[in-house]
Amino acid sequence: RATWVSNVQTPSQKVEKIAVLGAGTMGAGIAQAAAFSGFDVVLKDINDELVAGGRARIEKLMRSAAKKGVLSAPAAEERLARIQYTTSIDDLTDADLVIEAIVEKLNVKQDVFSELDKQLSPRAVLASNTSALSIEQIGSATKHPERVAGLHFFNPVYKMPLVEVVRSPATGDAAIRVLVDVVRQLGKVPLVVGEGPGFLVNRVLFPYMDEAVRMVSEGAEVTAIDRAAKKFGMPMGPLELLDVVGLDVARHVADTIGSLSPEPSPTPEFLQRLIDQGHLGKKSGRGFYLWKDGKRQQPV
Ligand code: NAI
Repeated sequence: RATWVSNVQTPSQKVEKIAVLGAGTMGAGIAQAAAFSGFDVVLKDINDELVAGGRARIEKLMRSAAKKGVLSAPAAEERLARIQYTTSIDDLTDADLVIEAIVEKLNVKQDVFSELDKQLSPRAVLASNTSALSIEQIGSATKHPERVAGLHFFNPVYKMPLVEVVRSPATGDAAIRVLVDVVRQLGKVPLVVGEGPGFLVNRVLFPYMDEAVRMVSEGAEVTAIDRAAKKFGMPMGPLELLDVVGLDVARHVADTIGSLSPEPSPTPEFLQRLIDQGHLGKKSGRGFYLWKDGKRQQPV
């Protein structure tokens, strides 16, 4: 059901200002990528502390790009000045596109989309970075489901070239055109996919990570699996990748994908046991590996 974007015609309506909801792992990455490519950005989270955390990560990313010579130091500061930080939805009203990257819970996303639908101009496109929730169900909370679509970035955003543009049965062509255009302006590769568990990439990737967790639950060594995957040519092993994604985020995706297979998957319960102990992977300092200052240490 995926279509490469050569089938999608441009041009679309112009996007100048992008609002990003959620200053976490993905929201901060998306805001940085958007400002880097010259968009005006407004980044919102629910309190000042979370906004400040996102801002610190964005500044670090942009300045390290300048250090690596990807752009000049003054250009990095000019891009950073394009980002406005806020906790108020009122600052989003003139955005041409909203990219939502908040918690992976349907009812929370529906409340937010219903609010955005009321507050923003009807020509603004509303996109969700959801990993696995239904875009149709998110859009059903609005009066304009034709302007609601998925825009699924991968982690870390600055590095990963592919972005899935997810079309629900209710999404209109105009919204898809806008999103394909924006992804290209971000210097990334848009892949238009239909609604469905895991879209395309996670549908392929999760069974692979699922089998790695199954092997660990059967007693295999974390490092043996990850080393084999790396020697095979993967940039990192499946268990290290789960830690980087975040075990809580992966758990939601595993639940959705798990429903595709006739055999019940052991992954949700296995991950839940770790989550119950506060182990969420890289972001909490412990998952399949221990993590210190963002660097992978020994396996647990
Ligand atoms: P995260 O937990 O790092 O960040 C979420 C942020 O959203 C938090 O700072 C939270 O305070 C904020 N938030 C919650 N409600 C809000 C609201 N009403 N308005 C503004 N901000 C609000 O989560 P992460 O990992 O960035 O994931 C965000 C979304 O992106 C989820 O839907 C997830 O499934 C998806 N995703 C995650 C990937 C990953 O590798 N972590 C990859 C691709 C998609």
